[in-house]
Amino acid sequence: MSTQEVQRQRYLDALGVTRWELRQADASPPIAVSAVSDGISTNPIPVKSGITEKTPTNVGAMDWADLEATVRVCTKCPLHATRTQTVFGVGNRQAHWMFVGEAPGADEDRLGEPFVGRAGQLLNAMLFAAGLKREEVYIANVLKSRPPGNRDPQPQEVAQCEPYLIRQIELIQPRLIVALGRHAAHSLLKTEMALAKLRGQKLSYHGTPLIVTYHPAYLLRNPIDKRKVWEDLCLAKRIMEQA
Ligand code: URA
Repeated sequence: MSTQEVQRQRYLDALGVTRWELRQADASPPIAVSAVSDGISTNPIPVKSGITEKTPTNVGAMDWADLEATVRVCTKCPLHATRTQTVFGVGNRQAHWMFVGEAPGADEDRLGEPFVGRAGQLLNAMLFAAGLKREEVYIANVLKSRPPGNRDPQPQEVAQCEPYLIRQIELIQPRLIVALGRHAAHSLLKTEMALAKLRGQKLSYHGTPLIVTYHPAYLLRNPIDKRKVWEDLCLAKRIMEQA
């Protein structure tokens, strides 16, 4: 086995996958046909009650430089008082794959980059298992500032921060979005549906294919569900192959 193959096997082991499966084997189950048709307006997923606050800047017209500079000094929610720094996003700004997590944790707050702690290592394993390199995808969070004690994001924080994520998606125009965990899924899809019901199917974010899978931090606590993440990644790969 070459060094690269040994490394791949190590990542697959971390994901609980013992070997690559042949594409023919992956291809046999049909892709779950979109539960969400293209466009949010026809989205049949129940939409949660609206938060109407707007971020009072022209975020929707910003280029990367303006957006990054605006996020860096953002004080729109109380998290600015407790963060070390904002965590904007990392990766290829022309990426075909975009991964969206919840919020920075302690390691990310310290280093200014998403998914660099233990959950990040598992995300790297997920990427590798899907045949992707971290630097070829784009990785961002719904919240750009760390909630103290890693508590859940509050609805007002999401409402204030999500325009930044929305603009990142607009600028990147990914071919597939992978929502990692329920907070990312709920924010992007405007639903409160359980993650178990959302995963395993092709959904849509304003016409861009979106899949939902378990958050790597959840997987660290519940390794039994790694197999489901592997299935979700296989679905994602099939969607990309058909795009
Ligand atoms: N969890 C997340 O959702 N995002 C990070 O960047 C790190 C941990």
